[in-house]
Amino acid sequence: MKTILALETSCDETAVAILSVGNCRSGPPVGRISPVANSELLASEVASQFAEHEHFGGVVPEVASRSHLLHAPRLLERATSAAKVDLPNVDAFAATSGPGLASSLMIGASIAKGLAIGFGKPYLAINHLEGHLFSPFFGESELKPNVALIVSGGHTMSVFVRGVSDYEIIGRTVDDAAGEAFDKVAKLVGLGYPGGPEIEKHARDGDSARFDLPRSMLDSDNFSFSGLKTAVRYSLPKIGVIPNRGDRAGPRRSGGGTQAKLRNQSAGARLLASARDEMVADLCASFQQAVIDVLVRKAIAAARKYRVDLVTISGGVSCNQELRKQLLEACERGGFEFKSAEPWLCTDNAAMIAFAAMLQLHRGFQSSVTEEIDPNLALA
Ligand code: KG4
Ligand code: ZN
Repeated sequence: MKTILALETSCDETAVAILSVGNCRSGPPVGRISPVANSELLASEVASQFAEHEHFGGVVPEVASRSHLLHAPRLLERATSAAKVDLPNVDAFAATSGPGLASSLMIGASIAKGLAIGFGKPYLAINHLEGHLFSPFFGESELKPNVALIVSGGHTMSVFVRGVSDYEIIGRTVDDAAGEAFDKVAKLVGLGYPGGPEIEKHARDGDSARFDLPRSMLDSDNFSFSGLKTAVRYSLPKIGVIPNRGDRAGPRRSGGGTQAKLRNQSAGARLLASARDEMVADLCASFQQAVIDVLVRKAIAAARKYRVDLVTISGGVSCNQELRKQLLEACERGGFEFKSAEPWLCTDNAAMIAFAAMLQLHRGFQSSVTEEIDPNLALA
């Protein structure tokens, strides 16, 4: 039995996790299935910095790294206490070493290296994308080759995964990442940050056929979402939606002042507001469906091309229930197995980094403590 402690500080989430690894099922792969060790998550702590960055309208690197410095020691304490593990008894220390914000990556990597040196244990530098990539297998003891869709705020790519560290990039976005498009469109229509959950919430009541939005680069392996975002921007004046922060805070708050304001609104104004809300819902649903159509079509095409039995999806955007549902249905129609990570594992966390570190340890990999972080670290 071994324990791995991992830190994730690549962007605006500080996270620490402790994974217990037992029953090493080593040995040759059986067919195309590779056995790996059984693992159990002992602790997973995440501190999101949304509030710190929201009023800047995006992630500010210096604010992020200062915040990691504040949160990390507290999370380390909470994680070790929840896991009932003392730091000297941890068997390996891991951290995300890229891709991400340089000054943020440095915090987690420095802490993990310091602990590894101090306690004389191995250090593992883990690729953030590899963390996402294997999150659908979290806690399982076997890996299968698959076509993986990684859809997050910083990345959108499809990858042919033969096994651990054996990847071929099939396609990637040539402009915005899918999550970035969700965030930018949410901002355009006056919704909050992060935009993905906000758009999903509004899309539930919307008509996805109301707006005819583009599905770009359908015949390519690559992705493009910036044309879709621009099409949404052009739709706004046509339907009379003006992004307005004051408006969005009003009717959704439950305070008595707001209720009083609503009662005082003229019937005409209320009618206008409700028509506008309906159009925002329709626009959100139409945008979300355009993204889903592209992701589903490319995932299935790649699975056919690379002759895999399994399609996986990971990254923050894969929290989206409608995307998961439609991709599952498309996989069932196409005769593919489908796997997605549990929603809490889709957005940035350290459990997925600990799991990737466990897979790397299992194949005998460990890093030098002199290894530098790499903001542009490639997956393949
Ligand atoms: O994986 P992640 O936490 O961070 C990166 O590695 O980038 O992904 C964050 C992204 C954000 O853009 C957020 O808007 C998006 O994931 N996201 C969603 C949903 N939840 C988070 N997008 C669509 N629907 C969601 N429910
Ligand atoms: Zn991520």
